[in-house]
Amino acid sequence: MTDHLESNRTAWDHRVKVHLDSQFYDVPGFLAGASSLNPIELELLGPLQGQRLLHLQCHFGLDSLSCARLGAEVTGVDLSPEGVHQARQLAQQAKLEAEFVCADVFDYLAQVEPTFDRVLVSYGALCWLPSLAPWAEGIARALKPGGRLVLVEFHPLIDLMAGYGYFHRPEPDWEEEGTYTENCPGETHPMACWVHNIGEVAQALRSAGLTLESLGEHAVSPYPCFDGMTAVEGGYVQLHQGHPKPLLYHLVATKPES
Ligand SMILES: C[S@@+](CC[C@H](N)C(=O)[O-])C[C@H]1O[C@@H](n2cnc3c(N)ncnc32)[C@H](O)[C@@H]1O
Repeated sequence: MTDHLESNRTAWDHRVKVHLDSQFYDVPGFLAGASSLNPIELELLGPLQGQRLLHLQCHFGLDSLSCARLGAEVTGVDLSPEGVHQARQLAQQAKLEAEFVCADVFDYLAQVEPTFDRVLVSYGALCWLPSLAPWAEGIARALKPGGRLVLVEFHPLIDLMAGYGYFHRPEPDWEEEGTYTENCPGETHPMACWVHNIGEVAQALRSAGLTLESLGEHAVSPYPCFDGMTAVEGGYVQLHQGHPKPLLYHLVATKPES
């Protein structure tokens, strides 16, 4: 395993343990019946009853299991053994069926069969990937003809405002990071990350043979991850310093029927 994978896996193993007890992820709320999915991805995913859904970088499975509750047959994939272990535990506790696979997303996608109706990628997933071409090709491989990728990600302008670059570079940015939940213990771990702008994402998917159906930018986010955010209608937050700033973007791409 390369340096970046080993470091990121260790960091995410630690994060899972912290996140499970956080108000941010609200596991008791989920076990009591609440969904962790937000209106943006719910609308883009459409009805999930009977749909085979692949959730990439599924963390400890909250969103995967929320999809399972809506009737999807879910496979969640994540690099972190602790994340996958906790996802399986959570499925048992919630009495939900889902498969969880512990793997590097590139290794998983290199051997996947075209059996999925939906692929879901969301909120803080792409920044851990060194390159997008094999990712996009793997998603094209995973989808059945007519199947749909739903991507909802943090807007790259946020990274730019935080001091990262805008254009992709092969070398990672190494950060010594804690985590983003309110109960962050202050402990930090080295993590490798990469920026990917929206043009790069769209082009990678197009080069992999997928058809871009919808692309949009949003001035709201469900997650108060940054300083200076204010609550707005619908449980969202905005970043107001002058004009509202773009916080999220979404992209839907489909695999052609033939
Ligand atoms: C911010 S979380 C994604 C959150 C997700 N939207 C959810 O449902 O909670 C990022 C996840 O990416 C995973 N990850 C990072 N690099 C990966 C890789 N190369 N392959 C698979 N998973 C990876 C981490 O273990 C972590 O669980």
